[in-house]
Amino acid sequence: MSALTEAIWASMPVPAFLIDPDDRIADINPPAEQFLNASAKAIRTQPVFDKLAIDAPLEDAFQRVRNDHSVLFINKVDVSGGQSAPVQCNIQIAPLIGIPGHVMMMMEPRQIADRLGRAYSVTSAAKSAIGMAEMLAHEIKNPLAGITGAAQLLSMNLQQEDQELTDLIVAEGRRIVALLDQVEQFGNLRPPERKAVNVHDLLDRARKSATVGFAANMKIIEEFDPSLPPTFVDADQILQVFLNLLKNASEAAAGQGGTIRLRTFYDMSLRLRRKDGSGGALPLQVEIIDDGPGLPPDIEGDIFEPFVSGRENGTGLGLALVSKIISDHGGWISVDSVPGRTVFRISLPVAPKEAPKE
Ligand SMILES: Nc1ncnc2c1ncn2[C@@H]1O[C@H](COP(=O)(O)OP(=O)(O)OP(=O)(O)O)[C@@H](O)[C@H]1O
Ligand SMILES: [Mg+2]
Repeated sequence: MSALTEAIWASMPVPAFLIDPDDRIADINPPAEQFLNASAKAIRTQPVFDKLAIDAPLEDAFQRVRNDHSVLFINKVDVSGGQSAPVQCNIQIAPLIGIPGHVMMMMEPRQIADRLGRAYSVTSAAKSAIGMAEMLAHEIKNPLAGITGAAQLLSMNLQQEDQELTDLIVAEGRRIVALLDQVEQFGNLRPPERKAVNVHDLLDRARKSATVGFAANMKIIEEFDPSLPPTFVDADQILQVFLNLLKNASEAAAGQGGTIRLRTFYDMSLRLRRKDGSGGALPLQVEIIDDGPGLPPDIEGDIFEPFVSGRENGTGLGLALVSKIISDHGGWISVDSVPGRTVFRISLPVAPKEAPKE
């Protein structure tokens, strides 16, 4: 390194890591030394994932940066350096120009105030909001059943035009019940009962039930890799995930019709490492791709939070449930959206050989 580059490297105010083609640490700057509580000398050539626990599939990210020669930003991930408590960071990964296979990763810890003021309080508020909504849901359903029942009785003795009003009461009552069911479903989610499951069977079931219902005017195409091994999931819960994603894709088309592609493939490079050190390979990839307008920019970053919706009648619970189920399975979900192409990608584990079959 020249004196100037050395000075730049040393003066960077945030931890920076140079990573070699084998995901080993080639060098770290002084803030990174501080973060890891270790000297650069001691840490060179060590596998980066032995030193950093990051709650995001970074192997996949590094590989993408190497292949595409593009910069990748990952926001709001928990990073911990060995003994230290996890710190929430925004991460930037860039290819090292002129040195093939090497990447540079910079971590910008998010401001404590920012975390407390926003990210943290939003999630805890959201949690108690769900608890409260669940209780309310339960309390509202009984009197609501009384109201719709009474409306139905009334309607028997009414003229045609007045019946329209009681029909309205019944229809709207049903709509509220459906909404409350969704809130309750969120709270009642049980831990997954995992079995070896063919993911294509689940996608097929989801497609069939979608096409006779909410996706009636959508074209759904299957692009399956038939050699995919079984995954290790709770079939009912993952079916619910696929249905919610298909429903969103259909609703995004806003009655205009459109095409949804269900794509599966194998990608060995994805490995999730959690804060507690657990985690494993997530090689089974399922993508649900639509050609609708894309995520509304104002809520793009929050779509997995409960009660965030870009639709007039949306409860905003669909994706919150999806992300809870996927995380209960130790899986990973990501989204990539531009107008005309929205991709939700789910990464799942392969079933162990001894796993019971569905
Ligand atoms: N495929 C998609 N294309 C465009 N926007 C989407 C897509 N999927 C989700 N969104 C946006 O994300 C928002 C949140 O989705 P989510 O499923 O959590 O809630 P919802 O669909 O509004 O309500 P619910 O699913 O509870 O009925 C949607 O309202 C929509 O604005
Ligand atoms: Mg939805």
